Amino acid sequence: MAVQSEFRWCLVLMLWLCSSCSENSDATWVREPGGRTGQELYLLNCASCHGEQGDLGVSGAKNLRASFLNPVAIQTIVRNGKNAMPAFKGIITEQSSYDSLVTYVISLRN
Ligand code: HEC
Repeated sequence: MAVQSEFRWCLVLMLWLCSSCSENSDATWVREPGGRTGQELYLLNCASCHGEQGDLGVSGAKNLRASFLNPVAIQTIVRNGKNAMPAFKGIITEQSSYDSLVTYVISLRN
């Protein structure tokens, strides 16, 4: 009995250790583990400079609500970066993520 419950605690501890080490502690940008919506990707990766509404303008970030770029041009800038804007090609990898992100960016326009 006693041995069994110690074993169980050991398992609990191991699970806890595993789950805490899989959290990314120092990543500034959040990787997409697939299946994130465009809005989630935007809020996680872009809002720090562009703001939740797209017009915050931190460190010279362009106002996305006033932007007239087409979807292909938006995607190119996000993948490769531009001047003070970092490249996201190593962070956002799925084409489907770019599609939903670009749709969301365009939806910020009014
Ligand atoms: C570190 C701050 C920063 C982050 C994070 C950032 N951007 Fe930018 N973004 C900028 C800056 C600065 C520019 C202006 C680049 C230039 O033209 O010199 C810019 C420009 C753009 C443009 C071009 C707008 C236009 O009309 O020219 C788009 C589109 C854009 N960003 C989308 C995004 C998206 C989508 C994300 C998230 C994946 C993102 N940005 C993350 C700083 C940032």
